Amino acid sequence: MIFDEYYIKSLIRNVPDWPSPGVMFRDITPLFKSPKAQRMVVDSFIQRYVDADFTHIGAMEARGFLLGSVISYELNKPLVLFRKQGKLPAKTIAEEYDIEYGKAVLEIQHDAFESGASILLVDDLIATGGTLLAAATLTRQLGGSIYEAAAIIDLPDLGGSQKLQDSDIPVYTLCAFA
Ligand code: HPA
Repeated sequence: MIFDEYYIKSLIRNVPDWPSPGVMFRDITPLFKSPKAQRMVVDSFIQRYVDADFTHIGAMEARGFLLGSVISYELNKPLVLFRKQGKLPAKTIAEEYDIEYGKAVLEIQHDAFESGASILLVDDLIATGGTLLAAATLTRQLGGSIYEAAAIIDLPDLGGSQKLQDSDIPVYTLCAFA
């Protein structure tokens, strides 16, 4: 299936002033409600990564799990979870980060992957880049490297994709809202 950016963007709902005044929230639930759109998005990532040599997919809680899981399944590569504070059992490492509307903490288990692993980081959307930057920090703390950060949507006005690239993290997104 050919990727149709106009079609995909038409299935992202714009919700003004949510969750706080001044935020224009890009809601992906209509996209995931459409099997055709979901397939178009997933197929685009699979085509890009089918021959790539990263070792693991790292998925960001929560919406990154929707994509990370199916990419992991299709590519037959291990899935590791970057989760919000307090969700992961056993030993974890943590990193605090800023989000568009507050602060949060991201965690990963200390044995999520071996030193030397190459991780494809996956989320639904890049806003300020806080989540993916925290994930990159945690990945590097465990001795891993970042293959790329992938998302469906970039919000370039919020500066996240630029900030990631400035931190030597390649970025790949399927569409942007500017
Ligand atoms: N949509 C979804 N997630 C987000 C957004 C948004 O607009 N901004 C920050 N996280």
